[in-house]
Amino acid sequence: MESKAFVQELQAHNELLLARLGDLGSLTGEGQSKPDLIQLLKIALANEISVSELAAAWVPSTPEWDVKLTLAQQAGDEARHFKLVETRLHELGISMDDFVVPGVNKLFEYLRSLPSTVEKIAAGQFTLESIAYRVNDRFMSYAEAAGDRQTAQMYRNLIQPDELYHQQLGRQLLEKYATTPDAQRRAREAATKTLEIATELRSKAAAKMGTSCFPGC
Ligand SMILES: [Fe+2]
Ligand SMILES: [Fe+2]
Repeated sequence: MESKAFVQELQAHNELLLARLGDLGSLTGEGQSKPDLIQLLKIALANEISVSELAAAWVPSTPEWDVKLTLAQQAGDEARHFKLVETRLHELGISMDDFVVPGVNKLFEYLRSLPSTVEKIAAGQFTLESIAYRVNDRFMSYAEAAGDRQTAQMYRNLIQPDELYHQQLGRQLLEKYATTPDAQRRAREAATKTLEIATELRSKAAAKMGTSCFPGC
């Protein structure tokens, strides 16, 4: 299949699975106490630093210079998002003294194991960033409903444009590199597996926390 048509098909396939992420709201128990924004912003910190590390870890194992530079740029962008959230927490009077860099969970373990460039792009920028964009959108609504317009604006004006850009770069790179049946099969499998693991982890976390509105990266 021609790569542009393939990427379009993969996008449609992802959208179907992404819709399931949107349904997680129904898993959050009625009457269960809702977490405050501070807890959710701490989840954002963990996600941002994990994706920054992932992108950085992929730089040396990616031979194609354009993908290598895109990953390096993304690692920097996610680190900047971490700093933005950290600054916001500081403004809210929250200390970072107890923040610990999270260990590698099932999702990042899978992502780090991906051997080929096309799988990395499909799982990382193309899929993980579209998850981030979608869940951040829900988090902005949650922040606004909780009366924190400043946090919502930080996401809308500074973080979301980057997440969208990362996803668009992923799309362009897939169009360039997912040109053979084997590459397209690998890309599809990596995107599907990423969405499956992310949905599983987020549904467990949503049931535990009483909300599915926590941000991504
Ligand atoms: Fe991102
Ligand atoms: Fe980010």
